[in-house]
Amino acid sequence: MVAYNSILLISQMTPSVFTALALLAPLLTSGSTVRSAAHVHRRANGPPADFTLVGVAPTNTVLSFRLALTQSNPAGLEEALYNVSMPSSLAYKKYLDKAEAARFVSPSADTLSAVNSWLQAQNIHAATLTPAGDWLGINVSVSRANDLFDAEFGVYNHTRTGLQTIRTLSYTIPEELVGHMTLVYPTTTFPEFNSMISLSLRPAIPRRAEASKTLVAASCAEAIIPSCLQSLYSIPTTPATQSSNQFGVTGFFDEYANQADLQTFLGTYRPDMSNSTTFSFESVDGGINPQNASDAGGEANIDTQYTVGLATDVPTIFISVGQSSGGAWGGFLDVINYLLSQDSPPQVLTTSYAGNEDELPFSFADNLCNAYAQLGARGVSILFASGDGGVSGWQAGTCDTFVPVFPATCPFVTAVGATEGINPETGGYFSSGGFSNFWATPSYQKSAVSTYLSHLGDTYSGLYNASGRGFPDVSAQGLNFEIVYEQDFYSAAGTSCSTPTFASVIALLNDELVAAGEPSLGFLNPWLYSSAASAFNDITTGSNPGCNTTGFNATAGWDPITGLGTPDYIKLRAAAGL
Ligand SMILES: *[C@@H]1O[C@H](CO)[C@@H](O)[C@H](O)[C@H]1NC(C)=O
Ligand SMILES: *[C@@H]1O[C@H](CO)[C@@H](O)[C@H](O)[C@H]1NC(C)=O
Ligand SMILES: *[C@@H]1O[C@H](CO)[C@@H](O)[C@H](O)[C@H]1NC(C)=O
Ligand SMILES: *[C@@H]1O[C@H](CO)[C@@H](O)[C@H](O)[C@H]1NC(C)=O
Ligand SMILES: *[C@@H]1O[C@H](CO)[C@@H](O)[C@H](O)[C@H]1NC(C)=O
Ligand SMILES: *[C@@H]1O[C@H](CO)[C@@H](O)[C@H](O)[C@H]1NC(C)=O
Ligand SMILES: *[C@@H]1O[C@H](CO)[C@@H](O)[C@H](O)[C@H]1NC(C)=O
Ligand SMILES: *[C@@H]1O[C@H](CO)[C@@H](O)[C@H](O)[C@H]1NC(C)=O
Repeated sequence: MVAYNSILLISQMTPSVFTALALLAPLLTSGSTVRSAAHVHRRANGPPADFTLVGVAPTNTVLSFRLALTQSNPAGLEEALYNVSMPSSLAYKKYLDKAEAARFVSPSADTLSAVNSWLQAQNIHAATLTPAGDWLGINVSVSRANDLFDAEFGVYNHTRTGLQTIRTLSYTIPEELVGHMTLVYPTTTFPEFNSMISLSLRPAIPRRAEASKTLVAASCAEAIIPSCLQSLYSIPTTPATQSSNQFGVTGFFDEYANQADLQTFLGTYRPDMSNSTTFSFESVDGGINPQNASDAGGEANIDTQYTVGLATDVPTIFISVGQSSGGAWGGFLDVINYLLSQDSPPQVLTTSYAGNEDELPFSFADNLCNAYAQLGARGVSILFASGDGGVSGWQAGTCDTFVPVFPATCPFVTAVGATEGINPETGGYFSSGGFSNFWATPSYQKSAVSTYLSHLGDTYSGLYNASGRGFPDVSAQGLNFEIVYEQDFYSAAGTSCSTPTFASVIALLNDELVAAGEPSLGFLNPWLYSSAASAFNDITTGSNPGCNTTGFNATAGWDPITGLGTPDYIKLRAAAGL
C-alpha cells in the first residue's frame, strides 16, 4: 500500500513502520440482482487485485458465518438517539439501557419466524450474537454452505503475504429469507492482510516535558509531547477521580500495547504521574497482548500512550481484537457486539483504524453504524480517525472521485481529523475529509455543511457527494508525536494521533461530569455542532490534497479537513455545563 503523501512513507527496510489505519480489502463492488426470486450478492469484477484463486475450498472445512437479520425499527433508534443527544431535547442525556436500545433493532416476529423455520428445516443450530438478536452465528461445512447459499467457496491466496482465506464471489439468500436476512458474512467481503503503511515512525530525540502549563513551548512546532497538547488545548493535568468513568481503546491486526514502553513514556513525558499507571486488557475473538518488547505495535503504543498519558488516571481498557474475525471489518463487528452485550460499556471508545467506504456493502456498513447508534443512545461517545489520505481516503492508486472513509462517515460517530503546526495551527495535509455516499447530511450539521458548500461553489463538482454526511467533525494535532516504541523514541504522525487526543478530552470531561453527579456526554455530534460549536479553535488554513487535486481548504467554521476545529477544554467544560 502506498500512502498518498510520500512524506508519511518511510523505507520498507525500516523495522518501525506502522499503520494509522487499516487498509481493508481493495475496492469491493457488491452488486445485487434478482435471480429466481432470491437475493444474489455478487462481486462484479472477481476477487480484489491482491487475491488469486488457488482451488476449491475443502468440503469438510467448517466455516463460521454471521447472519444479519432485518432490524425492526432503525428509524426509531435514530429518533431515540437524537432525543437523548440533542441539548434542546427534553430527554437530553436520559440514556437508554441495554434492553431499551436493543428493542429498536430486534428483528420482527415475522423475521424471526421466517429465519427459525429455515434453520429448523435445514437442521442448523444458531447462536444469538447480540442482545437485540439481530445477528446470528452458525457453523457449517463448506459443502453445506455452497448448497445453502448457492455459493462456490474457494481458497484465495493473498499474493503479498501468502495468507489464505476462504471466500466466494457470489451467494444467494434463500427465497423465503428475502426481506428478513440482509447479509451473510463472510462471503464476498475479502479480509485485510496488508499492513497498511500510512503512518510512519521515525527515530526521535526525547524531549523532556516542559514546565509551563500556560505557554505553548516553541519546541511543540517540531515535536508534540503531552505537555504541548495540554497547553494548546488547556487540557488539565489534574488526575481524574471517578473509577466508574471508563475509556476504551481498540486494537486490531496483532497490534499489541506495550506496558514497559508506556512506563518509559510516562516517566519521560509525564513526570507528574506515576510511571506505573497502566491500562487494563480485554480480549475479543481470542485477541492477545503479549509483552515481549518485540511484540509492541506502533499503533497500539500511540493509542495507549496518548490516552493513558493525557486522560490522567481515567481507567483505560485496551481491547485487543484477534484475527479470527477475518480482518478489520469482521473485527469492527465483533468488538461492537461485545460492547453492546455489556451492561456498562466504557463511556468513550477510540479507534484509529478505518477503510474506504466503498469497500463494504451498504448493508454491512449500515448495520455497524446502527450498532454505534445503539451505544450512543446508551451514553457512549464513539470516536474514529478520519483517515490519512486526504480526499483520496485510503486509495492506493489514482481516484476519479474523492473517497470517503468509513466508519468516519457514519453519522452516529464522531470523526477526528488532523492538524499540524502551532502558529498558526493548520489543517493536516493528510487529514481525510469529505462527504459520504452512504448517508445523507444529518440535521445536526446541515447548516455548517451548507455554509462550507456555498463557499466552495462549483469547485470539485462531481468529485464528491454534496448531499452526503460531511466528515470529520473535529480535529486535533496529528504530526510529529513523540512515542516510545521498543524502548526507543520515535516520531509518529496520522489521524491515529489526533483521535486518542480528542477522545482523552472527552474522557476527562466525563470524569468531571460523573464527579458532579451528571451523566456522561454520550453521542457528541448534536452537542458539538450546537452548544459547543464555539468551544473550538477554528482552523482556517491548510488543505488535504488527493486524487490529483489540491483537496479542500480549511475555512472559518466547519470544513472537511478539520471539522469544527480543535478542542478548547475550558470552553468545552463550560459548554458541558460544568
Ligand atoms: C422522542 O421524543 C419525543 C418528544 O419527547 C417523543 O414523542 C418520542 O416518542 C421520542 N421518540 C423515541 C423513539 O423515544
Ligand atoms: C461455532 O464455532 C465456534 C468455535 O469455532 C464456537 O465458539 C461457536 O460457539 C460455534 N457456534 C455455534 C452456533 O455452534
Ligand atoms: C501464495 O502467495 C505466495 C506469496 O506471493 C506465494 O509464495 C505462494 O506460492 C502462493 N501460493 C499458491 C498456492 O499460489
Ligand atoms: C519509574 O519510577 C520509579 C520510581 O520513581 C523509578 O525508579 C523508575 O526508574 C521509573 N521507571 C521508568 C521506566 O521510568
Ligand atoms: C522475545 O523476543 C525475542 C527477540 O525477538 C525472541 O528471541 C524471544 O524468543 C521472544 N520471547 C518470547 C517469550 O516470545
Ligand atoms: C450521494 O449520497 C446520497 C445520500 O445522501 C446517496 O443516496 C446517493 O446514492 C449518493 N450518490 C452517489 C453517486 O453515491
Ligand atoms: C493529474 O492531472 C494532470 C493535469 O491535469 C494530468 O496531466 C495527469 O495525468 C493527472 N494524473 C493522474 C494520475 O490522473
Ligand atoms: C484554496 O485556497 C487557495 C488559496 O487561497 C485557492 O487558490 C484555491 O482555489 C482554494 N481551493 C478551493 C478548493 O477552495
